[in-house]
Amino acid sequence: MSWETIRVEVEPPLAVVTVNRPDKLNALNARAVDELRAAFIGLSTDPGVRAVLLTGAGEKAFVAGADIRELAALTPQEAKETASRGQALCDLLENLGKPVVAAVNGYALGGGCELALACTLRVASENARLGLPEVTLGLIPGYGGTQRLPRIIGKGRALEMILTGEPVTAARAFEIGLVNRVVPQGEALRGAKDLAGTIAARGPVAVRYAAEAIHRGLEASFTEGCHIEAGLFGLLASTADMREGTSAFLEKRGAVFQGR
Ligand code: COA
Repeated sequence: MSWETIRVEVEPPLAVVTVNRPDKLNALNARAVDELRAAFIGLSTDPGVRAVLLTGAGEKAFVAGADIRELAALTPQEAKETASRGQALCDLLENLGKPVVAAVNGYALGGGCELALACTLRVASENARLGLPEVTLGLIPGYGGTQRLPRIIGKGRALEMILTGEPVTAARAFEIGLVNRVVPQGEALRGAKDLAGTIAARGPVAVRYAAEAIHRGLEASFTEGCHIEAGLFGLLASTADMREGTSAFLEKRGAVFQGR
């Protein structure tokens, strides 16, 4: 598939997906949502890729939201379908089976912030601004933002961000746990690659199950979450990676994981 609105670069064990509409601050039109979906489906089954970076082209924006020009012309039915497609993309990122690290290199607003929230982890540059300004347009977040933001930063802070529509600085985002790391301007992708590279060196199946235990556990009771954890812990004991990881420790050498 040839891409019109994104770039995809595979640099094993990582892949970099870049939303590429810098003249529109990488706003997500319908084509970009479709292309992101196709790209992430492809990367999910690429055995050479252990983690994916998501960023925006240019110096100014990660993604400045859904394309407001497109939004303005939607019928109610089309608006619902647009939200569903955006939500499906975010679900895909969240459940990719490999970590997705957002390199937030500038504005991450609306759908852009929601994409970042669906990523496993977020690294922001000092100039980044993150927010859900939909109420300033007479809308609400529609790509899962009302659900993911409170799960990540807590209900009170999420209510403040969503009801005021005011973005937060990278420093504030770090303070409230909205981003995992803050790096100097121009370094977001480098910082995200460092973080993703560390995770890519760990046991891939263990990384997948750890994230799965957290995601599924947060939707369940504590007791049910612990059952999920124990089941996945047991399953890992059947993997070559678990044998390699434990043997490598006992033999005082570095582990080489195969992802099986
Ligand atoms: N949808 C469509 N186009 C967008 C956009 C969006 N979400 N965000 C930015 N753009 C476009 C602008 O219309 C402009 O296009 P033009 O040059 O053809 O006029 C271009 O990107 C540059 O944006 P501009 O507003 O001129 O840059 P700025 O530096 O003055 O302001 C922002 C930057 C991010 C503060 C401002 O663009 C903004 O508020 N964008 C909308 C954010 C938003 O509400 N997102 C949620 C959508 S649900």
